[in-house]
Amino acid sequence: MNRLRCLTFCLALLVSSTSLAKAQNDFKLPNPSFTGKISIEAAMTKKKSVRHFANDPLTLEQVSQLLWAANGALPVDAISGATIKTLPSAGGIYPLEIFLLTGDKSVKGLPAGIFHYNSLSNSLLRIFAEDVRMSLAQAALSQLWMASAPVTIVIGAVFGKSTAKYGARGIQYTFMESGASNQNLYLQAEALGLRMGTVGAFEENAVSSAMKMPAGITPMLLVPVGK
Ligand SMILES: Cc1cc2nc3c(=O)[nH]c(=O)nc-3n(C[C@H](O)[C@H](O)[C@H](O)COP(=O)(O)O)c2cc1C
Repeated sequence: MNRLRCLTFCLALLVSSTSLAKAQNDFKLPNPSFTGKISIEAAMTKKKSVRHFANDPLTLEQVSQLLWAANGALPVDAISGATIKTLPSAGGIYPLEIFLLTGDKSVKGLPAGIFHYNSLSNSLLRIFAEDVRMSLAQAALSQLWMASAPVTIVIGAVFGKSTAKYGARGIQYTFMESGASNQNLYLQAEALGLRMGTVGAFEENAVSSAMKMPAGITPMLLVPVGK
């Protein structure tokens, strides 16, 4: 009987520590806001690329809002019945995947690491538990200013999703869609009173390796964001 109790206790401990480990890498984000403090025209006018950031952390609300702008889900039927994302996408295929890179204490409520953004559940899954921002900057032709940003958002893409339907033209569509995501980020950053840069000058394999990019996803643009 004692043995049975011990076994039950150990099993319960195992289950709870497994769900704890899972929970520690799973981060629910605050709901995005659908209204902002400045007009779209003001955001377009003020938008600029910066290459220096204050050493101030971002809030989880700011991060959530940025990720939503980059590739967020919308309630189905929100506008026309067809729109389900903050971006347009050729054939409604949505080949983009968004990642967030953080340092220690660079976002209140998030540890350091590499996170994959799940737009449907509005959550982050940590896929690597170390700060790789400096390695990423080195992989981007040593644009070391990038590492001063509290977070970097990486726009990645699964080309195969679009080329499966459109052949070689799907490659061009995917680049176009990355640009739309990048522009959304510029406008959202302005609306939040944040600053950002865009980095497209990098060696693809070096970036993939620095940020432990899951197989099948190509890095398209790197977007350091801060204050
Ligand atoms: C596709 C693309 C790639 C870019 N790559 C880099 C880059 O590697 N490094 C950098 O400092 N800026 C980069 N930029 C930012 C441009 O230099 C910047 O947008 C341009 O100078 C205009 O300035 P503005 O954005 O402040 O209006 C890139 C912009 C785009 C759209």
